[in-house]
Amino acid sequence: MKFITPSASVLCDYYTDPQTNLRMLLTRFLEHYAASDKNALTRTVYGVVRKDIALEHVIGLFLKNKSQAPAAATYVFLKIAVFLLLYSDSYPEYAVVNEVVNAVAKKEKPFVNAVLRQLLRRKQEVKNSISSSENPGLKFSISAQLLASLQQVSAASEADLEYLDREPVFHLRFNPKQMSMDQARQALTSAGIPFRELPQLDCFETKAAGQVLEKPEQLGGFYVQNTGSQAVALLAAATAEKTVCDVAAAPGGKSQTLACLRPDIKIWASDVNPQRLRLLEQNIRRLHLDTIFPFVADIFKYPHDREAADLIILDAPCTSSGTLRKNPDLKSKISKEMIEKNSRQQRLMLASLVERFPHARWLYAVCSFIHEESEGVVEKVAASRGLQAVAIQPLLEKYHYRVQKTKFGCYLLPSELNNDLFYMALLEPK
Ligand SMILES: C[S@@+](CC[C@H](N)C(=O)[O-])C[C@H]1O[C@@H](n2cnc3c(N)ncnc32)[C@H](O)[C@@H]1O
Repeated sequence: MKFITPSASVLCDYYTDPQTNLRMLLTRFLEHYAASDKNALTRTVYGVVRKDIALEHVIGLFLKNKSQAPAAATYVFLKIAVFLLLYSDSYPEYAVVNEVVNAVAKKEKPFVNAVLRQLLRRKQEVKNSISSSENPGLKFSISAQLLASLQQVSAASEADLEYLDREPVFHLRFNPKQMSMDQARQALTSAGIPFRELPQLDCFETKAAGQVLEKPEQLGGFYVQNTGSQAVALLAAATAEKTVCDVAAAPGGKSQTLACLRPDIKIWASDVNPQRLRLLEQNIRRLHLDTIFPFVADIFKYPHDREAADLIILDAPCTSSGTLRKNPDLKSKISKEMIEKNSRQQRLMLASLVERFPHARWLYAVCSFIHEESEGVVEKVAASRGLQAVAIQPLLEKYHYRVQKTKFGCYLLPSELNNDLFYMALLEPK
C-alpha cells in the first residue's frame, strides 16, 4: 500500500488551498511519480474528496472534542483510512490501520489508532447510519447549495444523486474519415481497452481513458469527449448551414465533433486563452480536421469579418457543476460568489455575441445544472434582446438523452448515456 503516503501528500496540498484545481494538482504530482500504483493513488485521492462530507462526519463521531478538528496532516491520513475502510474492499482492514498509524507523526499514533479501532468495532453500524440517513447531503456527500440546484431541475432523486456520486466513465470518439466504426472497435480490442458501445452516438464508453491516452501511437485517432458535450455538437450539426463560430472553443471538443459530423461546414474556432488554443491546434492536426480554423480572440473584442456565420456556439466558462463525477472537488467547492461571478460574465458574453451577430442563431451551453448560469442567463438576455427559443428537446431525446425542458432550453439529466449534466438553449431573433 505504497500509495497511502503519496495520496496524503497530494491531499495535504489540496486542503491547504481547496480552491486549487484537484485534477491539475494530481496530474502534476503523477508526472514525477514512477510507481506502479498510480491507479490506486488516483482512486484514493478522488475517493477521499468525493466522500469528504461523509468522512468528516464519521471522524467527528469519534472525536472527544467535537468542535476541534485534528491537526491537518493527521486529519488527511484519517480521511484516507476511513475512506478505505468504509468505501473500498480492496485492502484488508488490519493493513489499512497499520499503514496509516505507521505513517502519522509519533505523537499522533495513539489517537489515530484509537479512532480507527473504534471505527472498526462499529463499522457496520456507521455504514448503515450513512446509507439510511435521511440527509441526502450526508448520504451522497454533496453540499446543500448543489442539492438545492439539483432539486430545482428535478434531478435530486436517490438514483440521480447516486449517479453523481459514482466514479466517472469516459467516452471516446474518432474522425470517421480516418477510421470506420469496425476499425475503431478493432483498434480498442487489440489494445486491450475494455469498452461499451453507444451505437446511437457512434462512440465508445470506457473506464480506461488513461490507458488510451498512454498509447498515442496505437490509439492516437481517438479523442475523449463526454456524451453531454457531444449533445452540443449534435445540435450544432443539425442547425448549422455553412459557417459556425465556436467562440469559446478550446480545447476543442465541440468543434471537433461538429467537424466530424458536418465536414461540409467551415468552423471558426477561437478562444481567449492561447495555451488552451494550442491544445485545440494539436487536436486538429492529430485528427486531420481541416475544416476547423483556430485563432485567439476575446469574445468582447471579436474580429469584424465573420458576420456571415449562421450559428454561434457559446460553450461558456462556468462552475462545471455538471461534471461532479470527474471533478468531485466541486461537490463542496462551488460557492454563491462563484455562481454570481460566472453568471454575470455569461450574460455579458451572450449579449455581446447577440449584438455582434444580429442575424445568426446562438447555441448557448454550460456543463452546469445551476439555474443562475444556465436558464437564468438565457432568460435575461432573451428578454432584453428580443430572442426566442428554437425547440431542441425532440432531437436530444432522439439520441436517448434524458431531458428536463425549460422555457428556453433543456437540461441533460443523468441517463443511460452516462452523460455529464448540461444545459443548452438554441436562440434566434424574434
Ligand atoms: C467550457 S470551456 C470551453 C470548452 C470547449 N468548448 C470544448 O468543447 O472543448 C470555456 C472556454 O472559454 C474560454 N473563455 C473564457 N473567457 C473568454 C473570452 N472572454 N473570450 C473567449 N474565450 C473565453 C476559456 O478559455 C475556456 O477555454
